[in-house]
Amino acid sequence: MWKYIKLIFVLSCTYEVQCHSLKVSLYYESLCPDCIRFVTKQLFPTYKDIGNDIKLDLIPFGKAKVVNENGKLEFICQHGSSECYGNEIQSCAIALYSVEESTEFIYCAMKSDDPSSDYYLETCANSTGISWASLVKCHTSGQGVELLFENANRTENLQPSLEFVPTVVFDDSFDQTLDDEAIEDLEAVVCKLLRYKPDACKSYFNDEVVLQMIH
Ligand SMILES: *[C@@H]1O[C@H](CO)[C@@H](O)[C@H](O)[C@H]1NC(C)=O
Ligand SMILES: *[C@@H]1O[C@H](CO)[C@@H](O)[C@H](O)[C@H]1NC(C)=O
Repeated sequence: MWKYIKLIFVLSCTYEVQCHSLKVSLYYESLCPDCIRFVTKQLFPTYKDIGNDIKLDLIPFGKAKVVNENGKLEFICQHGSSECYGNEIQSCAIALYSVEESTEFIYCAMKSDDPSSDYYLETCANSTGISWASLVKCHTSGQGVELLFENANRTENLQPSLEFVPTVVFDDSFDQTLDDEAIEDLEAVVCKLLRYKPDACKSYFNDEVVLQMIH
């Protein structure tokens, strides 16, 4: 039965334009407990299962603000300046490394006792093939701050504006229902939205649902 269904998806993929993989954007911040829970319990497991079928797009910034302090632009983060630092180091990893490497690094940092501590960040860099020196250089050179400004722009340009962290957006179009569902079970939502269902999605589709999809 499943083989037959997969064949249908493959065929419809061949004849339709919409065969692209799904873009999954996550707006979050390094120290918010719900973000930590989401990255470690939803995002990373989903990435491990069906990472090849999604385009992961991580935007560490969240509810931070850019403020003008006597002519100098500064960041104020919800959980203090150490959170801004954690966001910056993650932004550096995203910019400098492959999605595989940066996602492993971010998962490692987010499941550590403190995602803003140099000790854990360096330990995670060491264990995921990322050069800690390159992340430190990204920070000291000012590149990290530039990346945070880009994340600030993207976050501020969200429509409607960001209310909660984490917020999940699929294919650049915010949908409150999908966001709510994704916070509970990201993989189920991704499997629902993907046109071509990878094997890991099989458990989300029992024969009954599949029959309804055919008819
Ligand atoms: C990371 O690796 C470097 C080079 O091997 C080592 O000097 C450093 O102590 C390691 N850092 C941590 C926190 O394990
Ligand atoms: C952010 O947006 C502002 C105006 O919308 C623009 O001037 C600025 O260059 C942008 N910064 C980055 C880093 O994209």
